[in-house]
Amino acid sequence: MMDIKNLTNDFGVEVRNFDCSKKMGYDELNLLKKTIQDRHFICFKNQKLDGDTLASFTKNFGKLEAYPEKDKTKGKIEIFNVSNVSEDGEHLDPDDQRVILQKNNSRWHTDSSYRYLPSIFSILYGQETLPPKAEGGQTQFSNMLLAYDHLPEDKKILLEPLHQVHSYNDIRRLEPGLPELTYEEKSNFPPVTHPIVRVHPDRNFRKSLYFTSNTSLEIGGMSLEQGKELHKWLVNYISQPKFCYTHKWQKNDLIMWDNRVLLHRVIPYDYAKYRRAMIRGTVEGEVPVLGPFSNEVRLNNN
Ligand code: OGA
Ligand code: MN
Repeated sequence: MMDIKNLTNDFGVEVRNFDCSKKMGYDELNLLKKTIQDRHFICFKNQKLDGDTLASFTKNFGKLEAYPEKDKTKGKIEIFNVSNVSEDGEHLDPDDQRVILQKNNSRWHTDSSYRYLPSIFSILYGQETLPPKAEGGQTQFSNMLLAYDHLPEDKKILLEPLHQVHSYNDIRRLEPGLPELTYEEKSNFPPVTHPIVRVHPDRNFRKSLYFTSNTSLEIGGMSLEQGKELHKWLVNYISQPKFCYTHKWQKNDLIMWDNRVLLHRVIPYDYAKYRRAMIRGTVEGEVPVLGPFSNEVRLNNN
């Protein structure tokens, strides 16, 4: 039977004595679904996985999301390489586009928010991790339910009607070293907007914050200057340690998180000095991001 231990008072668990590469039973799957819903983050210790078994594990929770650029992963298009190491095991140059994409992960974000239906879960496996004494390389998570609850009342009122623009193509504005997307890639992922206050019908209509720093930063209904200022405030606010859990990697950890609730970022490390190789399965979202004024929320919650 798996052992489950809480990581902080507010969220996160560690699971031992469970093999994610094996087909799981109905009761185990139900327990994991309940655990991720209640605790938002799971770390499975001591796993042995490859792209195929990671894909099979991920499919227990829904459909696999495909990589947004025409297969630049070289491997399976549903398994993302989150890595500064090539498919052939070569340590990549820090200027390589695949490494630049990792640098963009050091900005607080939630995965696939550039989609109208953003991802629900991401599942990340550490094949090569930094030595324990190295600086950086951890993955940090911030809990947006908690952060929303602690907002001052005037900020709740200010944020309530706002939407942020999310655009995959705009990663190029933050990281100009990346090559242009093709016309087809751009057309597949036009900019979308999502409410900054997210309402969770499956959590009794609780509210959380929902925003990103790794695509566009613009906030609808505000001037560019005001939007930038508010975005900066939000980033500072959610970075407070009381909302965060920092995952210190050990090789063969498999971590899973709920993108609807947590923002995450990698703490930058010396990309030239250290190898860091991870593979990710991503579970497609099935519902749009609902805000306080979304029809579905207004009609069902009054
Ligand atoms: C990701 C991501 C962070 C990390 O894979 O979505 O943001 O620590 N990774 O590599
Ligand atoms: Mn990410």
